[in-house]
Amino acid sequence: MKMNILTVIGARPQFVKAAVLSRYLRDNPNRGIKEILVHTGQHYDANMSDVFFKEMDIPQPDVNLHLGSGSHGKMTGAMLSGIEDLLIEKKPDALLVYGDTNSTLAGTLAASKLLIPVIHVEAGLRSFMMSMPEEQNRRVTDHLSTFLFCPTDTAVKNLRAEGIVDCGKDVRPSADQKCVCMAGDIMYEASLYYRAHNTVIIPDSDRGCILLTIHRQENTDDIQRLSSIVNAINELTEERFVFPVHPRTRKILFKNGLSFGSHVKLIDPIGYFEMLTYEQNCKCILTDSGGVQKEAFFFEKPCITMRDTTEWVELVENGWNTLTGADPKKIIHAVRNICKPVNVPLLYGAGDCAELIVNRLLK
Ligand code: UD1
Ligand code: UDP
Repeated sequence: MKMNILTVIGARPQFVKAAVLSRYLRDNPNRGIKEILVHTGQHYDANMSDVFFKEMDIPQPDVNLHLGSGSHGKMTGAMLSGIEDLLIEKKPDALLVYGDTNSTLAGTLAASKLLIPVIHVEAGLRSFMMSMPEEQNRRVTDHLSTFLFCPTDTAVKNLRAEGIVDCGKDVRPSADQKCVCMAGDIMYEASLYYRAHNTVIIPDSDRGCILLTIHRQENTDDIQRLSSIVNAINELTEERFVFPVHPRTRKILFKNGLSFGSHVKLIDPIGYFEMLTYEQNCKCILTDSGGVQKEAFFFEKPCITMRDTTEWVELVENGWNTLTGADPKKIIHAVRNICKPVNVPLLYGAGDCAELIVNRLLK
């Protein structure tokens, strides 16, 4: 074996991302990278975790730390301690993390302190809102990482603006002299691969609906914002919405007595394949998710994003995404004036992210 990598995952979007790279490593054992898969347990409901492993044929995690729920500090601290023990025991050559969750941050901190190189997949994204937990997590992760695999050219530029540039091919990368590589978007590769294997169908009555997701802290934990969003959607009675509700959001809606009209169909979180089918068959998508903004584009569906900024700025620039924040007037206007751009630019690489990452690491 040339290299042992310990990968830390924990939240729903990370299962989707890991599905691509873990499958590539398993299908190409001759490449010589062995992966130890660690699930922090950040997401733990069957429909937030198990379903992805089963459907997407992700190898079962070697370890599950069962550290879900709780405040940011408690959760991240417990993960940091648990991952540190594992790193000391397993002695991997590197640690790999995806995205910007608390699991990402905990893995990064644990490895950095032990001087184990960190590989960050989905590096360089910025919302320029440090109040978002995701922005805090991804900035720390990028600055501590050795290998930074960026999904877009914008991400590479964001890193450059913070003084993080590629060290060049003659230097052995380290946390001080980093390897920065535009690898394309791993979720694009996931969507290309899994849509070809998707046989899930949805009720005919749900075709042409607006697919709705809400779960980001800045929307759910600010009741003013959440109420504004609910009110806007309740105004749009001429539309049909399907809303797979994140457990965080369900709890807060219930606690605050917020409810939707009968034109909004609330369902439990769904598996990735069902999600892809909804994305493929909806009219448009209304969301605050990071990943779902891109998936809308992968299926050539216009997206309205209920956030003040986005990391995926190229979608806004190309007319595929409209930012409304939580402003009810803007949300209603955007939904009533939805239109599909003509151009479908190539923004997220060629769908060969896993291979690029492995090639670069082995070099
Ligand atoms: C996390 C990520 C966010 C990502 C999202 C993906 C951080 C800081 N946030 O947010 O960036 O967009 O995952 O979905 O890491 N809960 C359950 N069952 C579960 C999981 C969560 O009931 O399986 C509930 C618990 O009450 C929990 C709350 O949801 O306290 C929030 O979960 P948490 O993992 O802290 O954050 P997310 O909102 O899921
Ligand atoms: N997703 C899913 N079922 C759902 C909602 C989302 O499979 O009910 C998938 C979605 O297709 C995408 C990923 O989960 O691949 C995005 O995760 P989420 O929106 O929770 O997090 P974010 O991308 O905002 O971090």
